Amino acid sequence: MKRSLPDETATIEFGRELLDALPDNLAGWTILLSGELGAGKSTFARALIRAAGHDGAVPSPTYTLVEPYHLARGNIYHVDLYRVSDEEELRYLGWNELDDGCRLVEWPDRAPGLTSQADLSLTLRYDGDGRVAELAGLSDRGHGIVLRLSQFTD
Ligand SMILES: Nc1ncnc2c1ncn2[C@@H]1O[C@H](COP(=O)(O)OP(=O)(O)O)[C@@H](O)[C@H]1O
Ligand SMILES: [Mg+2]
Repeated sequence: MKRSLPDETATIEFGRELLDALPDNLAGWTILLSGELGAGKSTFARALIRAAGHDGAVPSPTYTLVEPYHLARGNIYHVDLYRVSDEEELRYLGWNELDDGCRLVEWPDRAPGLTSQADLSLTLRYDGDGRVAELAGLSDRGHGIVLRLSQFTD
């Protein structure tokens, strides 16, 4: 499913929309956020985390690798793998323990093995002054979410 995002507000709105389409209990969901630097991965993640009830800063996890949020609908873990060069490093950041929440992963290409464990893949691309988003389901329940969201587009 493709969605045109002409400005930052559209990216934020799409983040909220995705959160609304997810089940109440976010535990165990993994969402991959791909796209080059400045494409809007963090903007999208921040919007989703704020829509889930967090109202404070959403710092970049570039150095900490994981920023946790404990929210009414469950935990959200904002993960940034930019600095990860070896899939083994996932174990050191405690990846497996993050399955009690929703993992939002920037730079998932650093750990290609994640694709088989993930539910959704969002790719953001530059498109003139704006962006275009492509959301794909990677699991059965992920496909279900894409279908739900597609009903509101086109
Ligand atoms: N749909 C959009 N159109 C134009 N600019 C956008 C859009 N979405 C986000 N932006 C802007 O692009 C930049 C994206 O930065 P960021 O979210 O940190 O990207 P990334 O995490 O992918 O490196 C921000 O300056 C944001 O305001
Ligand atoms: Mg980022």
